[in-house]
Amino acid sequence: MPDTSLLNLFHPGTGRIPPYLAGRDVEKARFDAVVRNLSNGVAADGDMIVYGPRGNGKTAMLRHFTDNCVCDGIRPSFLWMTPKNMRSLEDMTRRMANQDKSFLDRFSPIAASLDLGIARFSTEVTVFQRSSFFQEILENRCSRTPVVLIVDEAHNLDPGIAGDLLNASQEIRANPDTPFFLVLAGTPGLVPLLQEADASFWERGDIVELGRLSPEDAADALALPLADAGVSIDREIAAEVAGRAHCYPYFIQVWGDEIASCLHDSKESVVSADTVAKVENKVNKRISTILQCAAG
Ligand SMILES: Nc1ncnc2c1ncn2[C@@H]1O[C@H](COP(=O)(O)OP(=O)(O)O)[C@@H](O)[C@H]1O
Ligand SMILES: [Mg+2]
Repeated sequence: MPDTSLLNLFHPGTGRIPPYLAGRDVEKARFDAVVRNLSNGVAADGDMIVYGPRGNGKTAMLRHFTDNCVCDGIRPSFLWMTPKNMRSLEDMTRRMANQDKSFLDRFSPIAASLDLGIARFSTEVTVFQRSSFFQEILENRCSRTPVVLIVDEAHNLDPGIAGDLLNASQEIRANPDTPFFLVLAGTPGLVPLLQEADASFWERGDIVELGRLSPEDAADALALPLADAGVSIDREIAAEVAGRAHCYPYFIQVWGDEIASCLHDSKESVVSADTVAKVENKVNKRISTILQCAAG
């Protein structure tokens, strides 16, 4: 009898790690190589910029990479941030300082004016001082544990803040013994935003344009989790479903979810052409609702 885990096998959602992360091997190898160096105290050569349309799997991929990173030295801290908590250098500094008051105190009067969340940077503090303070805080964190700073939804950053971040990253990595790695992920809108930021060197980072899956990887994304749950599916049927989902990772999860729940209800353990026909309407309804919401 099919397992009840069929009801929770696929994860159509935002940023959920899928039951099987298909493809992305090249990207994983590149990410792992940097993290391995970091774990041995060596700085990244550059930043990683990941961009692609919504639903192509940027967040899920980076979460999977961080959960499954390969490091033979000290495991880095993976710090996730989103633009809503990066509205100013002050916000970012406070987060990076990790509410470490003794550390902040060494930087008075700038630190005193920061006052762990109550006051704002005093107006006498220059932009230059603010950005060096931010940089020093980051460097200090890296001296304790390697740091991977991942900014998701980075297309929503203020271009000035994006420039501050990229410049701080470049300065920090100038010391090859400072284990720091910056990853920015966002929709294709990230590209014009970075062009606007005062940091033209971003183009020399590791730029990952995240597209849809290949037909083989999309079929695997559906078939392998089903096989793990004791369900068999012909390669031809998996390929047919992958095609109907346009090899789009999010739609594969929706198809998988409907197929798995149909099999759970019917207590079958084989996906047939009939199963696909049975769930098609439900899938299309779900997908068209998503498309309407995205358009509205
Ligand atoms: N490589 C992949 N293989 C299978 N499913 C994936 C893959 N990447 C993402 N997904 C699934 O696609 C959906 C969208 O992923 P998400 O990371 O939110 O995309 P993005 O961040 O690009 O908007 C999620 O349900 C996720 O589980
Ligand atoms: Mg995302």
